[in-house]
Amino acid sequence: MMTNPTLYAARRARVAAQLGDGGIAIVPTAPERPRNRDADFPFRHDSYFYYLTGFAEPGAWLVLTGDGHSLLFCRPKDMERETWDGIRLGPDAAPAALGVDEARCVDELDQRLPRLLENRAAVWYPFATHAGLHERIDGWLCQVRQRARHGALVPEAQRDLCAVLDEMRLVKDAHELELMRRAARISANAHARAMQRGARMVRAGQDVREYHLEAELLHEFRRCGAQFPAYGSIVAAGANACVLHYRAGDAPVRPGELVLIDAGCELDGYASDITRTFPADGKFTGPQRELYQLALAAQQAAIAATRPGARFNDPHDAAVKVLTQGMIDLGLIDKNQHPTLDDAIAQRAYFAHYMHRTSHWLGMDVHDCGGYAEPSETGQVSERRDPLSGEIIRERPSRILRPGMVLTIEPGLYVRPSDKVPNAFWNIGIRIEDDALVTDDPRFDGCELITRDVSVDPDAIEALMAG
Ligand code: GLY
Ligand code: MN
Ligand code: MN
Repeated sequence: MMTNPTLYAARRARVAAQLGDGGIAIVPTAPERPRNRDADFPFRHDSYFYYLTGFAEPGAWLVLTGDGHSLLFCRPKDMERETWDGIRLGPDAAPAALGVDEARCVDELDQRLPRLLENRAAVWYPFATHAGLHERIDGWLCQVRQRARHGALVPEAQRDLCAVLDEMRLVKDAHELELMRRAARISANAHARAMQRGARMVRAGQDVREYHLEAELLHEFRRCGAQFPAYGSIVAAGANACVLHYRAGDAPVRPGELVLIDAGCELDGYASDITRTFPADGKFTGPQRELYQLALAAQQAAIAATRPGARFNDPHDAAVKVLTQGMIDLGLIDKNQHPTLDDAIAQRAYFAHYMHRTSHWLGMDVHDCGGYAEPSETGQVSERRDPLSGEIIRERPSRILRPGMVLTIEPGLYVRPSDKVPNAFWNIGIRIEDDALVTDDPRFDGCELITRDVSVDPDAIEALMAG
């Protein structure tokens, strides 16, 4: 990964300015995680830590003080370990490479932290994100307390650093958007590749399995330099598409059935998240196309509702309205039971076939951080009884969208076999997912879809797959 010390130094300065006089922040990266015996899962840094350092090695901590001083703890140079595991940056090279003011060996962490915490007003760290972190900090604070007789003051406040970092990460800067656009482009091409090659194999009468399509995705991700899939790829053939968190398995990909692929790469720490649904052999059947057009119309309505000043929930509400009307028209919702669109929405009649939300934030993490309630309105709580569960739901006004926020727009439609719905639609699962950058750029109408290098238009999909 390329590092750009100035960029990360500027982010650290923004955080430092929010720590207050006498504030100190502690941010560890992720631990290495054992897979089995002496094999580890591939290491993935902690997103908060990476956001502030651009440093992707394990065994590292950042300590930042309110006066803007940054101290990195990292693994020492070690000829023997580097022979086995690869080059380490080491504390001597870290200040020049990462722009931190000071770097020390991570073995000194327990010895140095108590002294660093002495006489501070508040200690900030990410709450509820690292197992054992609170206890570790508590241990250091205990040591500060033991020095109280010598005049050491113990920080009186502990503050959640996520509150600061989540707000910063929610609005992407130019560097982040550049990476997200590249990740989106790679993922879009990977979807196109899987569609085309899958259709070719299916039409040739080969024994095509979901994992064959997954292999095409992974090939394209890695060919273009993406380090990992951003999440477990969903490649769901036929009825499997109705299982929301299905993973690519070994089910056959049969002509006449749809395939749903929800997959995106992670490039230099940034995720993409795309879903396309397409006919295995490249040609939609009539009922498949009917449902597909409905999901697409819902997505278009959601996209039209995504603009600066709108609320986070607006795209979802727009999608639900279109989907619900379509379900009534197609006989998926019983008109006798729900005589009007408003009633079907109020009673959540659509939920049998659309049971997830339309959007989530996207960034370093596929379900990225960032509050979903508007911060200035968190005091405005309303209550309603959910018509399906009977539970009381407490709601706050949802977030106002601002330029630089990135969210997915991913309505779907899932029809399981049931005597309540026409059997032509049974076992069809459709989702269409794009990544949208909220923007006031006049070239766009409120949002830029960064994942449209692979089309959602059913005719364009058929044409692509015929090629
Ligand atoms: N792939 C996970 C999601 O769409 O949210
Ligand atoms: Mn998503
Ligand atoms: Mn997805």
